[in-house]
This record gives sequence, structure tokens and C-alpha cells, in this order.
Amino acid sequence: MELHIACIPGDGIGPEIIAEAKKVLEKIGEVHGHKMVFQDILMGGASIDVHGVPLTEEAVVAARSGDAVLMGSIGGDPTKSPWYKLPPDRRPEAGLLAIRKVLNLFANLRPAVLYDELAGACPLKEEISRKGFDMLIMRELTGGLYFGERRTYKENGVTKAVDTLTYDENEIRRIAVKGFDIAMKRRRKLTSVDKANVLDSSRLWRKVVEEVAKDYPEVELEHMLVDNCAMQLVRDPAQFDVILTENMFGDILSDEASMVTGSIGMLASASLNESKFGLYEPSHGSAPDIAGQDVANPIATVLSAAMMLRYSFDLDREAQAIEDAVKQVLAEGWRTADIMSQGCRQVGCSRMGDLLAEHIR
Ligand code: IPM
Ligand code: MG
Repeated sequence: MELHIACIPGDGIGPEIIAEAKKVLEKIGEVHGHKMVFQDILMGGASIDVHGVPLTEEAVVAARSGDAVLMGSIGGDPTKSPWYKLPPDRRPEAGLLAIRKVLNLFANLRPAVLYDELAGACPLKEEISRKGFDMLIMRELTGGLYFGERRTYKENGVTKAVDTLTYDENEIRRIAVKGFDIAMKRRRKLTSVDKANVLDSSRLWRKVVEEVAKDYPEVELEHMLVDNCAMQLVRDPAQFDVILTENMFGDILSDEASMVTGSIGMLASASLNESKFGLYEPSHGSAPDIAGQDVANPIATVLSAAMMLRYSFDLDREAQAIEDAVKQVLAEGWRTADIMSQGCRQVGCSRMGDLLAEHIR
């Protein structure tokens, strides 16, 4: 099959990790008989440098013309980069938010898995980590605080800023349906996270989730307040299967969940719309402090490419081949700096990509 993949290398370590993901995908193509057709797109700071804006109309058209988008990372160091002297709607992150919105990528899947081989990197006590965990955070991605009206203004000489958090029942229903569908394919437990003791938007969230739950009697549903969830993630992460939550809570909880796996450099993510189209990116950021040094961990991006094969192309066997290669390379003791531990062999970003490609079966 011919796979048309739009690639957004982006900023910071983005170009390095995308290069490794392409390497692994090319190898998948060779071994499994597919043709990879990549088209690179500028977004974020890389686009600002060339076009003055973080996302152009042409870039959106190019992204749409592929079957899926594979992204590296967006953004720079706000204290150093000139991009952050621009107004907020022209900074790198605005490009990412805009592409999520125009492509209607409302469902963001962020798996957080503790690999046996990396159990030592888990910062939790051994008695907690030994139970292992494998959860998936389903984050609403095109609503809530991120896309509400916002402004900064002066009132009686005092500067005020306002951000608004809005959800309508349809936005909640479609993400809830995705959450329950995924739970059905996993361990059939769904934890819906909200702040229903304070927020109206959360009370509506809870009501709609309960309505949707009626269509999924096999799934065990629980509601959890977001502050409690933040605590439970470090107290007993094994209790979670699917966590369903709104945009801002999902942003925060997914970073926390990834940290308890030991390295945010390992975690993939998929942002999907109603069809098979998706944007796939590592859960981590652009790490400008280590950019260009060949030390970044490409595994999260490579695993995002595996998610892409599974969700956008229905190539389960090929996705599994990538995931197996990651496990195999880790089992053999190869590590990038972020996951290095005693007795292992440290390699750079491009060597890790070579190793992963060599291990594709
Ligand atoms: C993420 C990132 C983005 C977000 C930033 C870069 C705008 O933190 O994908 O989690 O907040 O959604
Ligand atoms: Mg985030």
C-alpha cells in the first residue's frame, strides 16, 4: 500500500526525532511491502522564520492532502527565542492549536505505559511501580479553555485578563463515545475526570458522560475529581485504564502520567477526528536545550508512527513490529541519555533510530 504522510518536523529536537521516525517507517515499508510518501510541512517557529506566521494556508492544505500527519515538536525557549516577542496568536504554539482546530482533531489519545525494561526509571516507590501500569488518557483537544474567548484589558486603571471555559453537550458526547469505544478494546474501565464540585462545564460533562455510558453497559464507569486524580496517579497508577477528560485537565494529567513512566521521551500520542485522519506526535515538547546535539530520545516519535499505522492505516501488524522493535532494543540494553541507567549502553538519537530500524521484523 502507498502511505501518504505529511511530516511536520517543527522546532527544537523536532527535526532530529522526525528523521529517525522516517528511518523506521522506511524500514517498515521495505520489510512489509509498502511505499512511504513523505511531504514535509513547516509549522511553528520554523514557519515563522520563513513566512512570519506559525501556520500558513498552504501548510493546512498540504496536511489535509495526506492520509495522516506525523509531527515532531513545536516551540522554543520563551526566555531566549525571538518568537516569543510576537503577539500570542503568532507564536509557535498558536500554529499547533490552529491545526488541531482546523483539522477537527478533537480526540487526543495519550497512552502511558510502564515498560518492564524501564521500571527502574519510574520515580515511584518500588511497591507501587512493581504492579506496573498501562493507561490511556483521552483528552478533549479542540474545546474548553484553550479555545474560549480570552482578552486582557484595563478596568479603572487595573489590568485584567479573562479566559473562558465552554463546552457544549455535542463536544462532550463525541469525545465520550471515543473514550468508551477505546475502553471496550482495552480493560473496560473508564475514569471520567472533572471538577464537578465547582465548575458548571464539569457538571455538564458528567451528565453527558453518564448518558453515553448507558450504551456501554460492559464498561465500568467512575467519576473522579481532577485534584484527586492528580494524587491517585502517583499513589496507585495501576487502577487506571482509560482516563477521559477535558482539554486543560488532560494537558496537565498527561504530563504527570508520562513522568511516572520514567521518561516523557517514551510517550506517543494520536489526535484524531471523526474519520481515520489523525495527527501523531510525541507527548513531549521541543526540548530546545538539547536540540541539535543528537541526544534526544526518538522513541516517543517512533511509537507515534506506530499509532499512525494502527489508527489511520489499519496496519496492526506493522504497528506491532515497531512496538516489538522498541521493546527488543530496550531489552538489549540500548538507552538514550534520558532513560540511561547503570549497566546499559548509551547511544544518541540517530544511533537509536538505526537500532530501531535494524530490529524491524
Ligand atoms: C501538549 C502541549 C501543548 C498543549 C502546548 C505546546 C500548546 O503542552 O500538546 O500537551 O498545551 O496542548
Ligand atoms: Mg502539554
